[in-house]
Formats: sequence, structure tokens, C-alpha cells
Amino acid sequence: MRDDLQGQFIQLYREDADELTTRLRIELSNSLLAPQASLSPKYFYDTLGSRLFQAICALPEYYPTRTEAAIFARYRSEMAQSTGTGNTMIDLGAGDCAKAASLFDVLQPQQYVPVDISVDFVRSAVESLQCTHPQIEMLGVGMDFSARLDLPDEVRREKRLFFYPGSSIGNFTLREAIAFLRRMKLACGEDGGVLIGVDLVKDKAVLEPAYDDALGLTSAFNLNILNNINRLLAADFELKDWQHRAFFHQEKQRIEMYLEARHDLSVHWQGKQRDFVRGERIHTENSYKYTPESFTGALNEAGFANTRMWTDEQGWFAVFHATP
Ligand code: AVJ
Repeated sequence: MRDDLQGQFIQLYREDADELTTRLRIELSNSLLAPQASLSPKYFYDTLGSRLFQAICALPEYYPTRTEAAIFARYRSEMAQSTGTGNTMIDLGAGDCAKAASLFDVLQPQQYVPVDISVDFVRSAVESLQCTHPQIEMLGVGMDFSARLDLPDEVRREKRLFFYPGSSIGNFTLREAIAFLRRMKLACGEDGGVLIGVDLVKDKAVLEPAYDDALGLTSAFNLNILNNINRLLAADFELKDWQHRAFFHQEKQRIEMYLEARHDLSVHWQGKQRDFVRGERIHTENSYKYTPESFTGALNEAGFANTRMWTDEQGWFAVFHATP
């Protein structure tokens, strides 16, 4: 690895760590003390959680990752025609940056901006990617983009393409998703666009095993959120007291994940206490599923037009490109 390549384009922007911790602690306390206790799915992704999620993506039951990859592989040229090349590619929730990197040869971005709450993950990915793609300017950004989308000034204004694959948008309610798309629309200017992967509504017999796999990886992923909360709040959750639950809510068109108390128990943190009765649940995730029409509608609501969609033969997953 050449030292002059490594590092010179890398900049990391991070929110003040103390401020972030204080804000997250307040947010977490409130959500645990609410009548329906909940934890935001963003807390899944500590180091172990990110690895567990990577493993989930390789499960036979978890169809979204490989279905999306097949759509990208099959239609990459059409997609590049639609988005154009030389973009400022802003990768939201970039993780190990692998999905974006697999499109570099067709999309040929001018600048690549991976954004993730987990800074260390992005930093090491950018370091190695910069070596293999010295012609692309890279800027890793560590921030919680679910709250705000104010990118640092070093991010080019021209041809901003927000890349949001993997159906991560499914964690938002419809209203939140539209608000988030609207923020992307404002941030991408007139010459930008979005390239988004979205999971589609399908038979429950396919959906539910994807979130309750035979190996128990999704259960481990769900339970691991408690390890992270114990660390963040100095709380005393015992993982063995909780059970993974996941089911498809037909009317709301979403997978709901919970952690269910196996018996009556109490959890303590920073002078606070929450009692749970046996069977009581902590809501940990919603994963909304769309139809081609419902997601096109959401894009329109957010002010996007010229929508193109690519899907697989079974119509299980879709990739959308849209411009303001
Ligand atoms: C990362 C939000 C797209 O909803 O399918 C996978 C997360 N949760 N298995 C999804 C997840 C349980 C995933 N997203």
C-alpha cells in the first residue's frame, strides 16, 4: 500500500463525542421508559452487530441482499445510463462500502462519500478502497444521518447521487421515509438524484423466515442490541431473559421485531428502573415492505420524478432511480 495515496483524500467529520453520548443516553432512557418500550434499530450496529448483520446477509432465508445484488449485476449498465457518470456518490449507511465499490466501474463517480454512524468501519473501508481506486476522491463521513443530512462542505455540490441500498429505508415509517427522501431531494440539488434499494411486499412464508432464520443469527443480532445498550447506558440487561420475536404485520405491511421477556424482571441504569412482566416486549425494529406503486408514490410525494425501477423475476426486491 502506498502511503501517499492512503490518507490524503480521507477526512472524517464527527459529531462531538460527548454531545453525541449525552443525546443518545436521553433518547435511550426515554424509549425504555415509554409504555411500549422500544430501542431504535440503529443500536444494532456495534462491532459485533455489524458482523452479525453481514452474516445474516449470507443466510439462505435472507433473500434481500442476494436479490438486490442480482438486480445490480443484471442492470448495472442501464442504471449507469440513467444516473450518468462522474457523480458525487453519497453512500448512506455505507458499512464496508462493498455495494458501492462493485458499481464504481460503471458509475465512475468523481467523488465517493461513504456515510455511516460507525466511523471505524468506514475509515478502514475507505483506506483500502482509496488504494484500489486512486482516481476517485474519497471522503468518509461519520454521522447519524437519520437525524440530519447536513454534509460537510468538502462534499461536492455537483451531481449528487444519494445511494441508499439494502432496503434500509424500510426502517422508517412511510411519513418518515417521505421526509427523509425530501431531505435527500433538497440536499441533491437540481442535477442530482437517488438510487435506492427497496424490499417488496410478498408472501409471509418468504418474509418471516428471513427475520427468524433456522440458524438463529437474527435472534443473536436482535439480542446483541442489549449488549450495546448495557455498554451505552451501563444498564444490566441479561440476554438470557429475552427471546427473539419477528412477524409480518399484514395491514401495516411491515416486519416487526421484538425482544420478549421470558419472565418478570427489572432493568436498571443510571438511577432509573424499568419493570417488565413475562411476555412483555421491547420493540426493536420495523422493516417496511413496499409495492412498486407505493414506493413510486413516496418518491413523488418527496418531489422526485422520472422514476425508473428494476426488479428481479419474482418481484421480491426493487431498485429505484429518481431525480428532482
Ligand atoms: C438493514 C434494515 C435493511 O430490515 O431487512 C435484517 C435489518 N433486521 N434482519 C432489514 C435486519 C433483521 C435490515 N435492514
